[in-house]
Amino acid sequence: MRKSKTFLTHQNKLKGNPVVGKAIFGSCLACHAVGKEGNEFAPPLDGGKNRGIEHLLTAIISPDDAVEGAFGLYFVTTKDGSVIEGYLVKNDSNGITIGQAGGSKLFVAKNNIHSHGGVNGRSFMPRTFGNLPAQSLIDISAYIKTLE
Ligand code: HEC
Repeated sequence: MRKSKTFLTHQNKLKGNPVVGKAIFGSCLACHAVGKEGNEFAPPLDGGKNRGIEHLLTAIISPDDAVEGAFGLYFVTTKDGSVIEGYLVKNDSNGITIGQAGGSKLFVAKNNIHSHGGVNGRSFMPRTFGNLPAQSLIDISAYIKTLE
């Protein structure tokens, strides 16, 4: 995995293209909202123009460094042996509802739950975006920085 510090020291050499960034940003809407588009599994990225480039890049490259309690990765293992990971939507006397990227929700009835809990130190935001080419990361950040 790319080390965010090394990357951050090099990013100033690249110039971001917000139009290209917007196209890539489509996959981010699986969790984030911008205006009326997207989902609510992550902080909305409206007002992105007020976010610093270092903050944006760090959040995208190493989300686990920035994990906030409410958006931690949550897991449920069922009695028949499957593991469900995602965003904790609801936990009540009937069972647990887990949200998945893209907006679908899975309900696990209480009598089918083997174990459940937060995955320590892991964000619901996947680490995989850190593997995008540096230029793409700069383009995405340039797009976010156009958001009012
Ligand atoms: C599977 C859900 C998911 C996807 C897909 C996702 N994110 Fe996130 N993102 C999160 C969560 C959850 C957080 C909240 C941080 C935390 O507590 O872990 C977050 C935090 C962030 C933040 C910092 C929040 C802030 O207010 O500044 C940025 C920036 C960000 N994401 C950008 C992106 C970009 C860009 C993409 C697409 C390349 C993306 N995310 C895709 C879930 C997601």
